Amino acid sequence: MKTRHIQYGASEAERDYYRSLVKQHGSPLLVVNRSKILQQYNTLKSYLPGVAFYYAIKAFPHPEVLHLLAEAGCHFDVASEGEIDLLKQLQVSGRRTIHTHPIKKDSHIRAALRGGSTTFVVDNIDELKKLIPYRSRTGVLLRVSFRSESATVDLSRKFGCAPGQVLELATEAQSLGVHIRGLSFHVGSQCANSDMHVSAINQCMQLIDECNQNKKNPMNMLDIGGGFPVNYVGDDIDLDTFFKPVGQALSQLSSDINIIAEPGRFLVAPAVTGIASVSGKARRGDYQWYYLDDGIYGSYSGQLFDHVIYPLQIFNTDETRTPSILAGPTCDSIDIIAEDVALPDMADGDLVIGHMMGAYTYATAATRFNSLAGANVIFVD
Ligand SMILES: Cc1ncc(COP(=O)(O)O)c(C=O)c1O
Repeated sequence: MKTRHIQYGASEAERDYYRSLVKQHGSPLLVVNRSKILQQYNTLKSYLPGVAFYYAIKAFPHPEVLHLLAEAGCHFDVASEGEIDLLKQLQVSGRRTIHTHPIKKDSHIRAALRGGSTTFVVDNIDELKKLIPYRSRTGVLLRVSFRSESATVDLSRKFGCAPGQVLELATEAQSLGVHIRGLSFHVGSQCANSDMHVSAINQCMQLIDECNQNKKNPMNMLDIGGGFPVNYVGDDIDLDTFFKPVGQALSQLSSDINIIAEPGRFLVAPAVTGIASVSGKARRGDYQWYYLDDGIYGSYSGQLFDHVIYPLQIFNTDETRTPSILAGPTCDSIDIIAEDVALPDMADGDLVIGHMMGAYTYATAATRFNSLAGANVIFVD
């Protein structure tokens, strides 16, 4: 079970920095560090050379993040019309996208085509058939399901065909005149190790070989999805140990195969810091309650949806600590960020810093429950 990590104390420079941001921009805030995103992108490129990266926009769909990554040469994984529109507004060509949602209405396909996407992910015959009217200008990645027990979020339950169905689907696609460009998989998010990535790459390699026997239009693409992990407290993931076997497996692929990946979390998680303030407090039973201006319906929604316990930091180092509860601002009783944590006395206006808050925070925090505005997003270098 994951436990909460709280850092007590901060350097004077750190304290001044966070306080000046709140003075300037208000609270709550999500502070995005552009350099960190680029650093993460470069780390991925160095571990997996030759792989083209398609940022999974859903992880942090802010136009400035997309602009930054587009300028750096990154491509994009889109899964909705809204995501396509975000790129359109930034004048990023649809040719730099793949549409990865396996289930689509016809209107979704048409919107993606208008946006310039031509590669679509599909995992069953009914969805393949939807592409027949557009087959002259589209290609398909067949999504294969490989269940991963080491992933915090298993993404192969809801989508993907069984490996044993690939040959049959590829044959049916051929008879329908729909071109299969290759295979894709997504073994899950925040994978603790890369065993499943490696196994999925090896199995896909065999499946592509099988499907390409005597084919005029062979598959030439493998999409290895996302799932690359970051170090939330307690994960202790060593990047060399994770990525080297993946690179090794990919190096066995024929040079005719274009390899792509759809990282989300890895690019943004460590680049964003949340700043919330104490709005008020109350003594209730054995606990000291602190009510913050951000919570589960806001930037901390990932604690519910994404199974992440964000590491927190407060400035007070006083060793007299009381069992406390950090609650969010809405009237709902599930809106609690941290239960039973030992905290020194805090006053209204004191700051609570949340680290590693870039992935699936801003994106899923749009509920506006109680008509509360979400955190203001600001960018720093
Ligand atoms: C199809 C697809 N690609 C990529 C991603 C990004 O995954 P991660 O953030 O784990 O890299 C997701 C996450 O849900 C996804 O569903």
